[in-house]
Amino acid sequence: MSTLEIKDLHVSIETEQGRKPILKGVSLTINTGETHAIMGPNGSGKSTLASTIAGHPRYSVDSGSITLDGEDVLAMSVDERARAGLFLAMQYPVEVPGVTMTNFLRTAKTALDGEAPSLRHWTKDVKAAMADLRIDADFAQRNVNEGFSGGEKKRVEILQMELFHPKIAILDETDSGLDVDALKIVSEGVNREHSKGGMGTLLITHYTRILRYIKPDYVHVFVDGHIAEQGGPELADRLEEEGYDRFTGANAAAGA
Ligand SMILES: Nc1ncnc2c1ncn2[C@@H]1O[C@H](COP(=O)(O)OP(=O)(O)OP(=O)(O)O)[C@@H](O)[C@H]1O
Ligand SMILES: [Mg+2]
Repeated sequence: MSTLEIKDLHVSIETEQGRKPILKGVSLTINTGETHAIMGPNGSGKSTLASTIAGHPRYSVDSGSITLDGEDVLAMSVDERARAGLFLAMQYPVEVPGVTMTNFLRTAKTALDGEAPSLRHWTKDVKAAMADLRIDADFAQRNVNEGFSGGEKKRVEILQMELFHPKIAILDETDSGLDVDALKIVSEGVNREHSKGGMGTLLITHYTRILRYIKPDYVHVFVDGHIAEQGGPELADRLEEEGYDRFTGANAAAGA
């Protein structure tokens, strides 16, 4: 079993107006086998948390810690984090011109495992995973994410997740922009990987729709750079009904 432990994390970014604190004391523990959903208003810092775990250089950690099975994640390079088993499906996946999907996937897998995958098995695995996610075989020869539609990019993120077998997968709005069929296909991909037993998931989302397919064990409400409340799946339904007013103080401001 693996555990990602985030303790009292404070993160800021450098802006033209000076240093801006974004994360203000985040604590969260994710074990393999668990699914944690994070919901919260725009700009509350959800993607910042995801990027900080993955090691994006823009974010500086002012205090707090992130460990994976006791190992200091913050001391690791981006590559080392990926090799340690952390995976981030980005809210806005980047295009990689000049690199085909086939080359990218094989190169990444080789870097992650420290050895090239056996070609016969690998080719079969990639084909099967693409078919499961209803990604047309033509995509293998296309450049990574170049000209892909929003929904196609999201499927390709899940394709990587299924081929790389991370210990902890962070899915940042993987459901945004998916049509109803794609939402189901992508959810099935996450559930397939989950059923193998070796993965914990942090699912950032704005909608309870995806939570009907991927059942969260815990739901966290993220407001103004920290977790304001946690609960079970029922909390997601309550948020959908009530919104975030009771956390953001909008009622109080309106004199209610
Ligand atoms: N380079 C920057 N300069 C100024 N502010 C920034 C910069 N990068 C991020 N921020 C701010 O950090 C805050 C947190 O952003 P983040 O993307 O983490 O929010 P989020 O919770 O993922 O929102 P969403 O639900 O819209 O995806 C936002 O207010 C954003 O404007
Ligand atoms: Mg975001």
